[in-house]
Amino acid sequence: MSPIIDISQAISILQLGEVVALPTETVYGLAARIDQDKALEKVFTTKNRPFFDPLIVHVQDLTQAQSYAHWDEVSLFLAQAFWPGPLTLVLKKKEGQISDLITHAGPTVALRCPQHPLFQAVLKGLQIPLAAPSANLFGRTSPTTAQHVIDEFHSQVHVVDGGPCDMGIESSVVQFDETESKLFILRPGVIGKKDLEEKLLQKKFKVSVEFRNQNNAPGFLKNHYQPSVPLILVYESSQAQGDRSYLELIKDFISPEIELKEWQLPCEPSLAARQLYGDLRHFSENGEAIYLSIPELWAEDDRWQGLMDRLLKASHATLAFKDKWLLSSTT
Ligand code: TXA
Ligand code: MG
Repeated sequence: MSPIIDISQAISILQLGEVVALPTETVYGLAARIDQDKALEKVFTTKNRPFFDPLIVHVQDLTQAQSYAHWDEVSLFLAQAFWPGPLTLVLKKKEGQISDLITHAGPTVALRCPQHPLFQAVLKGLQIPLAAPSANLFGRTSPTTAQHVIDEFHSQVHVVDGGPCDMGIESSVVQFDETESKLFILRPGVIGKKDLEEKLLQKKFKVSVEFRNQNNAPGFLKNHYQPSVPLILVYESSQAQGDRSYLELIKDFISPEIELKEWQLPCEPSLAARQLYGDLRHFSENGEAIYLSIPELWAEDDRWQGLMDRLLKASHATLAFKDKWLLSSTT
């Protein structure tokens, strides 16, 4: 039996306390009702995800989100500005409203209002939020098509096919700290530091936007999203233009049986993001090692932050030129 289902079937299955994979504008999510602990547990066990890694709660709109968290005025403004869309806000949770399975019994909850019409239709049908991590095995590449979900879970998980995801990388996760008046980017995504700064300035908020790595959450660990073949990032350098001697270093680093191929990503960040995870899956299936040239601009430009974060986490080594090519392992 095909695991593809339609919206009304998805609603019925979720009502019964089961999990369903749904498309969002970022990546496909593995959804469960937030009031069904059995289904929430199944999200973790299906993905092989440790219970200490908290889930994002997907809401229909800001009104629904207000039932679950205490909102400061900066977070409220950001939700009004970017929702529905790929921005997740971490807020102080309202006690007794959210299962400890979602937050790992912590004081905060991550909330996001997805833009995808099919996900929205399911939320409207249920009138209850859905917890949904990316629909992939823990630590692996996130799915951006229904077929990716099927390749990962076969007939074990029903999936609503919403076509390829528009954005292709996960939402930006942010948290406002009122005492420091700082907005921390916990996970970069399509919405970048500059986008956030510009919006906050429009409203004359005196808030600085900074990156903060969370070491206790797997989504923020050094390695994640990894393909099962070596990925090497080569930082382009004006001093070493046209010099391909690094290929020898890569060949020494990877096993000699693996074929080495150059990966070409579009030079436009939204197109590159859309292609990223599908390409990584393809390379894993083909068993090819890959190297990708990173133009200097990508490491500096705000619009490439989300992509650079995923590329680094997926990589096994980087090569940079300092008088000569130097390879550093990233695993
Ligand atoms: O685009 C997305 O965000 C996708 C789609 C399906 O919505 N979801 C997604 O979920 O990427 P997941 O579980 O793969 O990543 C959620 C990240 C994790 O790194 C988790 O640690 C973090 O959000 N997170 C969840 N709750 C948190 C909290 N209360 N405080 C800090 N980080 C939290
Ligand atoms: Mg994930």
